[in-house]
Amino acid sequence: MMVEEQDYEQVLMEYSQNVLEHFLNPRNVGRIEAPDAAAKVGDPGCGDYIELFLRMEGNKIAEIKYLVFGCAGAISTSSALTELAKGKSVAEALEITDDDVIDYLGGIPERKKHCSLLGVKALHSAIKAYQQKMKFVQKTS
Ligand code: FES
Repeated sequence: MMVEEQDYEQVLMEYSQNVLEHFLNPRNVGRIEAPDAAAKVGDPGCGDYIELFLRMEGNKIAEIKYLVFGCAGAISTSSALTELAKGKSVAEALEITDDDVIDYLGGIPERKKHCSLLGVKALHSAIKAYQQKMKFVQKTS
């Protein structure tokens, strides 16, 4: 089925300028080779999927990158999440919520709110993996 130009414009109008900007120019896309932590999270409802990588300097997120296979909401919210998380401490990053991501973007259509959870879940999961790793390193050194 062809998407009419009018339908396309209507869909675009649902999104804030900031969401569209992050969708068209997503930040921090890619992989980190030999990351300090990583996580993969999928949404079984829609099939969207993210892989997120962290490079840490002590307690801070020095670098964060991701690859996302998903909708405009997943791409823009993942991009925004990385901007919010970069430079944060572990504790600060664990406090980032999907609402913080949505606020950062200036809102997102109601039916797309779940998209913002993808990156947040991946970030929290990667940080927890990092914390486990650090506990193990401390125990064995
Ligand atoms: Fe599933 Fe956007 S529709 S993350």
